[in-house]
Amino acid sequence: MPESKVHLSTLRDPSLAPEGHKKIDWVARHMPVLNEVRKEFEATRPLAGRRIAICLHLEAKTAYMATVLAAGGAEVAICGSNPLSTQDDVCAALAERGVIVHAWHGATPQEYVAHIHKVLDHQPDLVLDDGGDLVATLHRERRELLPRILGGTEETTTGVHRLRAMAAAGALAFPMVAVNNAHMKFLFDNRYGTGQSTWDGIMRNTNLTVAGKTVVVAGYGWCGKGVAMRARGLGARVIVTETDPIAANEAIMDGFEVMPMSRAAAQADFIVTVTGNIGVVREEHLQVIKDGCILANAGHFDVEIDKRALEKLGGPPRRVRENVDEYRFADGRRVYLLAEGRLVNLAGGDGHPAEIMDLSFAVQCLAQRYIAENAGRLERTVLPVPPEIDRRVAELRLRALGVEIDRLTPEQEAYLRSWQGG
Ligand code: ADE
Repeated sequence: MPESKVHLSTLRDPSLAPEGHKKIDWVARHMPVLNEVRKEFEATRPLAGRRIAICLHLEAKTAYMATVLAAGGAEVAICGSNPLSTQDDVCAALAERGVIVHAWHGATPQEYVAHIHKVLDHQPDLVLDDGGDLVATLHRERRELLPRILGGTEETTTGVHRLRAMAAAGALAFPMVAVNNAHMKFLFDNRYGTGQSTWDGIMRNTNLTVAGKTVVVAGYGWCGKGVAMRARGLGARVIVTETDPIAANEAIMDGFEVMPMSRAAAQADFIVTVTGNIGVVREEHLQVIKDGCILANAGHFDVEIDKRALEKLGGPPRRVRENVDEYRFADGRRVYLLAEGRLVNLAGGDGHPAEIMDLSFAVQCLAQRYIAENAGRLERTVLPVPPEIDRRVAELRLRALGVEIDRLTPEQEAYLRSWQGG
């Protein structure tokens, strides 16, 4: 086992480590692609001498990935990307496994920011971000560190949007690879990962039935598609709300009802926001919302459901169950908010299944190696994941599953290259 970094870390309770080790060992057994990457990293040490700063949901899969980067030779420091998704037992175990950890569950906004700064104090060469807070802090408050940063990777749709805004303004100081946009990431993590883990979070927190209920899914991107698909599989009637006419057409063709939130809210037993935008469920919707409606968010930030509007109409919330807050309106209606409007799958659950994060985090590790190997040669903008990495992760996954596929024949290859014949 690597040297313990407990003394360098900021932890809630180091004595929780044994439970954390069990959680990390469990997910590691279900991440075969990352295990292949680990073997390769141990043999070749592509990150030797590099320091990596990570800001991610600090649960078991993330912890395991951090140890893979460390196995590649990097010195790794990590903080949480959401105060409620951090698991203290996992943090304690990870510090014992040689990673510097600055995080605890339920960090106040000030503590959350302080943890990001502590991770940056380790003077990273590479960054790995989820949602953009690490990169934004670097550019806003730690500019003295910018010249030494070779580049980084971003995990989520929201983070990639923020990076593109920075790049468009000419403000991005180093190359950032958009891991979110790799096929082996969004086709699986965003769709099947969010689809399953969101319902896992909602069901374990409410202990209620989905079958026979009306579920409103706000946003029909890859995450929304997964949430809607799984709601249907659980037996719900599903309504989709959208602002994008193309996505709305997709939802219709996939067999869902589409209507504005002002009509949907009046019928909803559950509303799940998955848009990446602000004010998706707001006062005008709460005015008509059905009594007993359960509100959950699966988008990156806790801005999709307007908590101020909830308090305006319902006063301060009453905690009626772990992760469930009740708002009682003057007319007697009650509305329930899960996990304080933060990512319900992570703040109220364990995040995506291990087999899904296996793919996303294998892409992450290979993209980190790509940046380290191409230091100084990459443009300071938002870059795609090289297609070879996507393909490699896909092939490793098939191998792990024991699935074989066909190869193009020479005739087929020639046919695809030609443009003359019919
Ligand atoms: N586990 C770690 N990071 C995650 C993410 N971005 N989404 C879901 N589960 C996760």
